[in-house]
Amino acid sequence: MDLPFDGAISAYFENDAPEAIRNAIRRADKDEILTASYPHGERLARKVYEHEFEKLQIELVKLQSWVRSRGKRIVMVFEGRDAAGKGGTIERFRQNLNPRGARVVALPKPSETERQEWYFQRYIEHLPTGGEMVFFDRSWYNRGVVEKVFGFCTDEEREHFFQQVIPFEKMLVDDGIHLFKFWLNVGRGEQLRRILARESDPLKQWKLSKIDVEGLGRWEAYSSAIRETLERSNSPQTPWTVIRSDDKRRARLAAIRIVLHAFDYDRKDVKAIGAIDQQICGGPGIWD
Ligand code: ADP
Ligand code: AMP
Ligand code: MLT
Repeated sequence: MDLPFDGAISAYFENDAPEAIRNAIRRADKDEILTASYPHGERLARKVYEHEFEKLQIELVKLQSWVRSRGKRIVMVFEGRDAAGKGGTIERFRQNLNPRGARVVALPKPSETERQEWYFQRYIEHLPTGGEMVFFDRSWYNRGVVEKVFGFCTDEEREHFFQQVIPFEKMLVDDGIHLFKFWLNVGRGEQLRRILARESDPLKQWKLSKIDVEGLGRWEAYSSAIRETLERSNSPQTPWTVIRSDDKRRARLAAIRIVLHAFDYDRKDVKAIGAIDQQICGGPGIWD
């Protein structure tokens, strides 16, 4: 397959990546977590992960059946830098669910028509009806982050977005929608390692885009856009949950546990769900 950015990521790694990160990636063995401040040194052992994961899958099936019988509506927004693990986490939620009641919404960049609409309009069409869980793989938060970093919107449009986003989400919550906003936070070395892995894996190359390649050099611009977005769109009714996702396995377990613990579904087994790893979860304050 011919990719427009063939080799661009290895070239970035060799020529432009900060030396400390380059060295860390070269030195690390595959189970080592690259982010020094991460509370665990190695990723969770596969056996432990699979054991916990199985128990959570059973609980998710019970949750879905309750959601469907009670006509509940759930929205989960997954945000994070490129390769933070959004798609993979969503996949693990949905693995054993009835896809009809567990939809993924991953919208492409806005069309010419959509550009002339109210910014939130195209997302509203995908909100759940009774009995549905909807997973947003990226969301209206594009305007806070990627659109800022790449200049896809004006500063004025972004200000307008910040004025509207909390009232918009409050309307959803007031109407009875359960809204989760997950920010998956990945460190710079770990992100680069994952994007490098995508470049060399034919099954993962579809996950790469020009934005990912260009974005690698814009780490700091992303950081300030993210910091501002998390601060300005956090409210008691519409809070962010930041999950440190340097270890994908721990991040997936944490996200699923947070959702399961939030509902009082039938035959809920609190012990099977287990404890949320508080060391990797928190509000915007734990983001760095
Ligand atoms: P992903 O990482 O979700 O696979 P990309 O890395 O290609 O997708 O793009 C990141 C986000 O930026 C996507 O949500 C995409 O819709 C958005 N985006 C890309 N180009 C534009 C654009 N010209 N205007 C607005 N948004 C854009
Ligand atoms: P994967 O998507 O699991 O095939 O892995 C893509 C990249 O992420 C590779 O560089 C892996 O070393 C890394 N990776 C995979 N699983 C994890 C994990 N649980 N924690 C941290 N990194 C991982
Ligand atoms: C992720 O894995 O974080 C996203 O779903 C894919 C991406 O990084 O483009």
